[in-house]
Amino acid sequence: MVFQNENFMRLCSPPGEHCTHSGPTRINMSGMAQPSCFYLTTPIYYVNDAPHIGHAYTTVAADVLTRWHRQRQEEVWFLTGTDEHGEKVLRTAESKGVAPQAWADKLVAEEWLPVLDTLDAANDDFIRTTDERHEVAVQRFIQRLYDDGHIYKGKFEGQYCVACEEYKLPGDLEDGTGEYEGQQVCKIHGRPVETLSEENYFFPLSQYGDKLLELYEAHPEFVQPASARNEVIGFVKQGLRDLSISRSSFDWGIELPWDSSHVLYVWFDALLNYASAVGLEDESKQDEFSRIWPADVHLVGKDILRFHAVIWPAMLLAAGLPLPKTIFAHGWLLVGGEKMSKTKLTGIHPREITDVFGSDAFRYYFTRAVQFGHDGSFSWEDIAARYNAELANGWGNLASRVAAMVGKYFGGALPTPGALTDAETDLEAVAARAVADAEAAIDRISPTDAVAAVWTLVEATNVYLTEQEPWKVAKLPGELDESGAGAGGGRLATILVTAAEALRSLAILLNPVTPQAAQNLWTILGGTEALGELDKQPVADAAAFNGLPQHVTITKGAPLFPRIEDESADSK
Ligand code: MSP
Repeated sequence: MVFQNENFMRLCSPPGEHCTHSGPTRINMSGMAQPSCFYLTTPIYYVNDAPHIGHAYTTVAADVLTRWHRQRQEEVWFLTGTDEHGEKVLRTAESKGVAPQAWADKLVAEEWLPVLDTLDAANDDFIRTTDERHEVAVQRFIQRLYDDGHIYKGKFEGQYCVACEEYKLPGDLEDGTGEYEGQQVCKIHGRPVETLSEENYFFPLSQYGDKLLELYEAHPEFVQPASARNEVIGFVKQGLRDLSISRSSFDWGIELPWDSSHVLYVWFDALLNYASAVGLEDESKQDEFSRIWPADVHLVGKDILRFHAVIWPAMLLAAGLPLPKTIFAHGWLLVGGEKMSKTKLTGIHPREITDVFGSDAFRYYFTRAVQFGHDGSFSWEDIAARYNAELANGWGNLASRVAAMVGKYFGGALPTPGALTDAETDLEAVAARAVADAEAAIDRISPTDAVAAVWTLVEATNVYLTEQEPWKVAKLPGELDESGAGAGGGRLATILVTAAEALRSLAILLNPVTPQAAQNLWTILGGTEALGELDKQPVADAAAFNGLPQHVTITKGAPLFPRIEDESADSK
């Protein structure tokens, strides 16, 4: 069996190697290669509550990855948004005494859009499942499936978890304890399931088992990481049940076009956001759709992996549409060993952290400290320790020391370097290695490893300065002229130019992770006027120490990471 995207989507070069194109390449049906867009999505978030740092975790990872691809000068599309239909949102709205649309509007305006600013996310689009563009596309898509015989009417009874918006298998349930003693509860949410019996429309998911297994086999990159892939393969091998895709007991959803007494199952509705946002079923947007679709990466938390790795490709196969390239499942932020959640009252709002440490530190911390693909925990002590050791002392202090020394010894004008020694070429080699390793990490969707690779350059530059002791070299005869200013061409000049070049590389490499500090550093090193726009510097250019113009003015600037008053972190 040949999958459509097997012929449709290929990378021009193996991960980590550079090609001459500025991005992934699609091979179209005529065999002509065309540069295409790197398209990455977050899940769309339920509007039943405000965001917590578990949600922010996905958004930040998505933003770091897409900013990195943009820094490579690729064309990028980054989509996020909100999931607004279904019983879960309806029940929340009812409990607040408002209509579901009004509730969704309020939460989007007051919480889900503002949190993107809080996190400094640079998404290209924000889709809401109540957008007309989405509802129209979904109705056309579902009508097409119906017309082509992919949907049938049937009866179903099962155990439904409203929090998951999913019928559960016996293995997904466990015995409740405490107030739920004697009842079966969902393993993810710890809340009782409800027995539902309905006459509904069904999607024949059971027919897709073999095709899906062939897909996972032929494209090991389709589900990542390997642990997620194994879980999905094991699940599909057990046999798939047909999927109830409509509900008639409530009306908060997209009406089935051929039967207005049913609304579409919220997951069928929600998954389609990834395609409706880029022009699915819209005649006027066919160019956009073929340029952007299929997605390169759907980032999802591990709790929603099966929807994305099983139901979504089956829906696309039924419709004859190209499949996304990768579904990547990341882990959970845990509190006391359990998934952080608002329902369990363990949710921390992202603003509580950014108000103390700033958005850059939030982004750095969650990218670096929680290995992408694994579970991890947040603690105030840990973020405070990393802020001080890695950001303020490791990187920020490095930048201010170099700027201060160029100011003190050369009046702020970057001098002309003298002869290079092994120490300089070794440091440049660290930069080249950092670029290569970080690029490879981004290609395997490991932002954590990418930042760790970049950090080798922060550390090596600090070691370089400690070993070269420019403050001592400045006292050697001939290094400073009679006025006390450096003449350039000496050892002191070589050391400071090398350190400044390392900082230039760091500004480029950390722009996707900590955009505000990187821009601040760029200004210190001469700014847009002297160096060009930071966003326009290709990642590959960070590998060589030849980017700072002669005599560029280095200024002291504000500290990249100001000291945090202990009390504000301690009071948390
Ligand atoms: N609306 C669905 C997704 C539909 S996508 C077509 C949904 N929404 S959600 O708001 O409940 O979760 C959105 C994302 O946040 C999921 O990827 C989920 O894994 C993630 N997280 C929610 N809590 C989390 C943690 N505690 N830790 C990490 N991510 C977590 O599911």
